[in-house]
This record gives sequence, structure tokens and C-alpha cells, in this order.
Amino acid sequence: MFFKKKQLSQIDDEQIALVENAQQRIRQKKRLYNHFVFWVFASIILWFVNVVVGVREDILILDYPWFVSIIVVWSLLLLFHTFQVFITKRFMGKEWEKEQLKRLTALQQVKIEKIKRALDKEAQLIADSQFQNEQIQPKQCITIIAAAATNNALGKDNNLIWHLSNDLKRFKRLTKGHHVIMGRKTFESMPKALPSRVNVVITRQKDYQPEGAVIVHSLDEALEIAKDDEQPFIIGGGEIYTQALNIAHRIELTRVHADFEADTFFPSIDESVWKETFKEDHFKDASHDYDFTFIQYEKNN
Ligand SMILES: NC(=O)c1ccc[n+]([C@@H]2O[C@H](COP(=O)([O-])OP(=O)(O)OC[C@H]3O[C@@H](n4cnc5c(N)ncnc54)[C@H](OP(=O)(O)O)[C@@H]3O)[C@@H](O)[C@H]2O)c1
Repeated sequence: MFFKKKQLSQIDDEQIALVENAQQRIRQKKRLYNHFVFWVFASIILWFVNVVVGVREDILILDYPWFVSIIVVWSLLLLFHTFQVFITKRFMGKEWEKEQLKRLTALQQVKIEKIKRALDKEAQLIADSQFQNEQIQPKQCITIIAAAATNNALGKDNNLIWHLSNDLKRFKRLTKGHHVIMGRKTFESMPKALPSRVNVVITRQKDYQPEGAVIVHSLDEALEIAKDDEQPFIIGGGEIYTQALNIAHRIELTRVHADFEADTFFPSIDESVWKETFKEDHFKDASHDYDFTFIQYEKNN
């Protein structure tokens, strides 16, 4: 029984395609069956005409009566027709193509889903680690930078006590391009403002106005000025270091291995609060009068 298109109007496209394909297959098989029946009858008639009636009995093809050749060629055509119906059209017909396409699409879909899941997982991991980093490492790293003797001496009579050229070079390299926050006395101990850095000077004096420096009246105000700097440096002196120890995240300390007489001292470093994360020893030489060590401390969370 064949469906009419009208009867199929309620069925969705996919079902219509399936039904149409089934109808086509039935038609193909019916045609093959008719071909076979025709071939049987034709073969009998040809045999009858040639052998029984004796029409052109004299014609032989490869020593066989002529009707045999016709039947052989026709049989080959019938075989080809059968092959087409059961092999070519079955496996390479529209339905077969559709099935293959469906199967491949489904496989691709599975792969895409897998990749999507892997990407989601990776994105989640990245987000988690970013979140953890933000939790662990604050966006800004307020860094104290100082050179202190074994007895924590920093300076005397508003001056440094030693001259260590490699320490000064390191100071310059680390602080260049950043805010350098200092007490008024430290600022005055220098010949002029430090170049290539924003000099922020803390004082209680309201009318203090030296050249080359931004003047503030508290450490908080200094940090507010430096809020867009990811690593502002607190460069001294003793009073400011003491106040900054609570809010700093890192200390870059040069430990000079000697005791000195001094009037300004670095506050003691509480090892339950500060963890040593880097250490590099340097030894006395022609241009350095003392052994010294670069030590980096990070505040424990
Ligand atoms: N070895 C090193 O690494 C190193 C580094 C830096 C300095 N130093 C040495 O340290 C010595 C200077 O240190 P210091 O402790 O005497 O002085 P300082 O810390 O450099 O400056 C102290 C001044 O800062 C101002 N100040 C401090 N706290 C304040 C606050 N909460 N609010 C407003 N203003 C505030 C005050 O200025 P006003 O009096 O104007 O109000 C105060 O007199 C020098 O000998 C210097 O050479 C050594």
C-alpha cells in the first residue's frame, strides 16, 4: 500500500523521508521482479522460436544457438539490475547516506561534548587558581627595602653608615619606575629626589614643600598616592619602617654582616610573621668593605 502525500501531512519531515524511501525501495524491487518474470518468459519464447519452431537454426554464436547468447547477455543485465537494487541502492542510496551522516554527526557531537567538558574544566581550574592567587597574593605588593647591620643599625646622624655599591645598584634596579615612600629625615639625607621614581615624603609639617617630592602627612596618605603602583617601596628610615611593618607584604633586606654604632635601627623581624623566600650571599672585596646578604621575606598568610 502506498501512502499519498496528503495522508502524510501530519507526519514530520523525517518520517515522510523514511516512508518515501520505503516506497521507493518497494518500487525498485517490484521492477526487478517484473524484469525477472519478463526474462523467464522471453527466454522460454526465444528457446521455443529457435529450437522448437526452428527459426534461423543455422546461426551459431561460439558454437551455441543464437538464443543462448541473447539469454546470457540478458542474464548479465538481470544480474547487474539485481546488484543495483540489493547492493548499490541499498547501501549508497539516500537513506544510507542519511544514516551515515547521522552516525558521523553523532560521533562528532560526542567528541565536541568531550572537548567542551575538558575546556570547561580547564576554564574552571584557571578561574579557581586566579581566585586562589587573588586570595593569597594581594594585587599590590607593598615592599620594604632596607639595608640593616647585624645589630639592625640603619644610619647615624641622618646618614648611611656604609657604602656597598652592589646594594645601591640593586636598590636602583628594584625601585626604578615605582613610588618610593620615605620619612622626611631620609629625604633630607639624600642630595636630591631619586630620579625615575615618584618620591613620596611623609612629614607632619604642613608647609613643607621641597623640590621633586609629593608631600603627604601619613603613611596611609602615601599609600593612597601609590595605589595604582603594583609594588610601591617603603625606603625608610627607622620611624617609617616601624610603622610600615604591619601593612607591608614583602621585605627586601640587605643584611650587612657587622655591628655598627648607630642612632637609627631597623625593627626586629618576627619570624612567625615573615618567611624567608630568597637569600643570596655576597662577600667583602675591593669595592665592598663588608660581607652582606640579600634576603627576601614574604609575610605569612
Ligand atoms: N639603611 C637603610 O636602608 C636606610 C634607609 C633609609 C634611611 N636610613 C637612615 O635612617 C635615618 C633616618 O631615619 P629616621 O627614623 O630618623 O627618620 P625617617 O623615618 O626617615 O623620618 C622621620 C620623619 O618622618 C615624619 N613622620 C614619621 N612618621 C610620621 C607620621 N606618622 N605622620 C607624619 N609624619 C611622620 C616626621 O617628619 P617631620 O619631623 O617633618 O614631621 C619624622 O620626623 C637616616 O640616618 C638615614 O640615613 C637608612
